[in-house]
Amino acid sequence: MGTACYVKGAGDVFDKLCKKLGLQSGQCTPDGRFSLDACRCIGACGLAPVLTVNDEVYGKVTVDDIDTILAKYTG
Ligand code: FES
Repeated sequence: MGTACYVKGAGDVFDKLCKKLGLQSGQCTPDGRFSLDACRCIGACGLAPVLTVNDEVYGKVTVDDIDTILAKYTG
């Protein structure tokens, strides 16, 4: 949710993640598999909007990428 990411649509990406996971920022799924946090900047602004899952960095993420990204961790 840093400026570069926010301007490039991070809010919509985050909203989709909330909906898909049934979480709000700072919450964890009942099975402990996913937690969701918004942060200000991870220093990869050139790739905005950016999200990370564990140590994996995803750049230039769109709302349409979320299903594909989550599928990697739910299969
Ligand atoms: S604002 Fe998103 S990585 Fe810097």
